[in-house]
Amino acid sequence: MLHLQKVAQYVENFGKNIILIGFMGSGKSTVGKLLAKKLGHVFVDMDQVIEKQEGRSITDIFQTEGEQHFRKLERELLSSFTANQGLVISTGGGVPCFENNMNLINALGKSIYLQLSPKKLAERLKNEKNSRPLIKSMNDDELLLFIEKKLAERELYYLQSKLILPISEQSASEIVSLV
Ligand code: S3P
Repeated sequence: MLHLQKVAQYVENFGKNIILIGFMGSGKSTVGKLLAKKLGHVFVDMDQVIEKQEGRSITDIFQTEGEQHFRKLERELLSSFTANQGLVISTGGGVPCFENNMNLINALGKSIYLQLSPKKLAERLKNEKNSRPLIKSMNDDELLLFIEKKLAERELYYLQSKLILPISEQSASEIVSLV
């Protein structure tokens, strides 16, 4: 990419919040950390903040208080960012799809959707099911079916992002260079 284009991109992102969106397993946290480093922003992982605030795992919160309560915690946390600048926020995969959150996300800054195919997501998620209550007890076939169905419902929201990055084989640093 031309040097001038890179400078223009840097200026465009300077001081802005960047909100990464996408299905579980799309690489929001990995890309987010690298991107924050590149821009000199502060990285925030919403799942991690909620776990820290509540003093227990997301699986635990789902089990004891249910998904609805977790969605409320996500909304509260998202709202708390309105006074901030210069954050790179990695959202949980469900955040854009509840409580009109996509409007809030787009008001917070530049939203970026990391778009992967169901097959690719299933490949990435099959060894990472345990920490995710929605897919914890699924076998590989059930997982792929679940992703296909859920992604079809959720893309309606994800596609409201300001930037959509289709991802196939690119590494996290290649993705960062596109932002
Ligand atoms: C969820 C995604 C998870 C986490 C929770 C629910 C979802 O975050 O917030 O398990 O509804 O898609 P990641 O997208 O970071 O895995």
